[in-house]
Amino acid sequence: MSGAFYITTPIYYVNANPHLGHAYTTIVADCLARFHRALGEETFFLTGTDEHGDKIAEAAAKNGREPQQYADEVSATFRDLWPGLGITNDDFIRTTEDRHVRVVREILQKVYDSGDIYYGEYGGHYCTGCECFLTEKDLEDGLCPDHKTKPQYISEKNYFFRMSKYREWLIEHIEANPEFIRPERYRGEVLSLLRSSHLDDLCISRPKSRLSWGIELPFDSDYVCYVWFDALINYLSALDWPDGERFKNFWPAAQHLVAKDILKPHAVFWPTMLRAAGLPVYKHLNVHGYWLVKETKMSKSLGNVVRPLDMADRYGLDTFRFFLLREMRFGNDASFSEEALVSRRNADLANDLGNLFSRVLSMTKKYRGSVVPGAAVDEALRERAMEAVRNYVELFSRCRFAEALEALWELVRSLNKHIDETAPWVLHKEGRDKELDAVLYGVLECLRKVACCLHPVMPEAGAAMLTQLGQTVEGPRIDREMETFGRMEPGTEVAAKSNLFPRVELEAAEPGDSAKPAKPKDKKKGKGKAKEDAAAAESETAMVEFDDFAALDLRVGVVRAAEVHPKADRLLLLQVDLGEEDGPRQVVAGLAEHFAPDVLVGRAVTVVANLKPRKLRGQLSQGMVLTVGADGGLDLLGPSGEVPPGSKVS
Ligand code: MSP
Repeated sequence: MSGAFYITTPIYYVNANPHLGHAYTTIVADCLARFHRALGEETFFLTGTDEHGDKIAEAAAKNGREPQQYADEVSATFRDLWPGLGITNDDFIRTTEDRHVRVVREILQKVYDSGDIYYGEYGGHYCTGCECFLTEKDLEDGLCPDHKTKPQYISEKNYFFRMSKYREWLIEHIEANPEFIRPERYRGEVLSLLRSSHLDDLCISRPKSRLSWGIELPFDSDYVCYVWFDALINYLSALDWPDGERFKNFWPAAQHLVAKDILKPHAVFWPTMLRAAGLPVYKHLNVHGYWLVKETKMSKSLGNVVRPLDMADRYGLDTFRFFLLREMRFGNDASFSEEALVSRRNADLANDLGNLFSRVLSMTKKYRGSVVPGAAVDEALRERAMEAVRNYVELFSRCRFAEALEALWELVRSLNKHIDETAPWVLHKEGRDKELDAVLYGVLECLRKVACCLHPVMPEAGAAMLTQLGQTVEGPRIDREMETFGRMEPGTEVAAKSNLFPRVELEAAEPGDSAKPAKPKDKKKGKGKAKEDAAAAESETAMVEFDDFAALDLRVGVVRAAEVHPKADRLLLLQVDLGEEDGPRQVVAGLAEHFAPDVLVGRAVTVVANLKPRKLRGQLSQGMVLTVGADGGLDLLGPSGEVPPGSKVS
């Protein structure tokens, strides 16, 4: 054994049933856990459910259940889903379990005793109809949008965590540890968020008079704990903090896996909480983007939720897992479609890998009676294989799954080419036995390496490949594959034939589509078309008079608050400070697919300030934020240095 590895998923809210998004994070965590086990590391893999707070209490009430009963039911839905997706978690934590409640209370007490939790005032617009506080942004013409009544401004006493105190420390920690938050774009977002605005203290309590579904504060029984302060601690309570063996073994190796929606709690709340509790911080926060369906984030209300088990049933679990890791560049958003899934299955798995497997096994049968020959292997082939495995391991460990698989596929494709070029059928015909043996042995040994590497992603297919190659399947080890070439014993009997990945057809049409067989995308054609379109657009751009341009009032603003439009997942409601007397103004921007609302707060943006106001899905938009398309994504256009809000762009 060398080293330890601890991987966590977010603990999922029990107010909705699991969908593709939850499945993706959990499958990635599973692939990482299996991969690190295969590197010989002692591994602990945790997932679970987040069961306290307003959302859950409301969902339970809507379903006519007591919160605990409701949480029991939905939590079981998550727990029961995982085995069907090949998930090998070592534990499943629920925040309503005693072992968790105990640890949360202990940590709260510890931080309270050290002076980092204080009692203070909190003010907001309280709507009795909604039974909750509304912010300025929630109000429409000063009224609650749902009840059309004027909310009462009330202030409430609450407990606050002195998060602001740890801002400088956190900036330094992130700067000193380049892979603390990865990929880099999220590290950059967190750093700019921390640098560009002051950090508020965190309100960590809710009075029981308003919400009782939570963990009672150990130092004031009139309050329960704010759900995020409670939830993050699951990563410690599952390790039996403070004295458990698990904690000692695994905490130093902790890595969290989350999507960008919950970047701020994990990158800002959690490390500062740990610091305040006198605990070392985690090692890596691995952040991925969203799976979109038809360019939109999945949501129950849009009816575009992809059910993971349906996909696994329809196309095979291994194909589904492979697709998820191969298709999404970790960190960026990706589009889910059955066409894309089928296309990957047929191109990467059926054509490239499956075909190679079947070719080499049938040649070994034909020329060597299915027995692995002994042979001196081509030096270049050996080097290529060793390099592919090293690249794979390096990239996979850093969560760059698409690139890791591509590194392996370069080898797979080169093996197909190697067979074409060396033409074993000619070697056989001409009686060049040594050369023929070298090709067969070389390709079989490389495929054994590929099978070991792929096993964590495709456990069933990996096992089938190893069996067909006459290998034991139990716990394939990847670390050894980086060190040696030639573990395949001459004399081993291999399968006579193989049909690992038969081609599949698109099974069912997505709603609104007519059923059509999957066709691999013609990327080159797509690019050429895009270029042509751009050129056409350029030539059609009309010239404008200077006065027309000067009529635009472009200003630099600072985003003070951001949230997703309640009626449109793709839109964000930004409160942009343009230095105006009556405070920030609202701008509705189509940025939700590219930025989590939290990361925009504090960002400087360029605004067309004199655009005629208009309502977008019921929300007033007073201006437009300028963006620039970059690398398939989107960036905000802003000044390179600090300028006061409202500065004119000329
Ligand atoms: N309960 C909190 C997490 C607390 S962790 C201490 C929570 N739960 S959640 O049920 O909303 O799950 C959010 C997570 O689900 C995301 O961070 C991501 O892992 C996964 N996903 C949900 N929808 C997703 C997509 N559309 N795409 C990719 N992953 C998504 O937040």
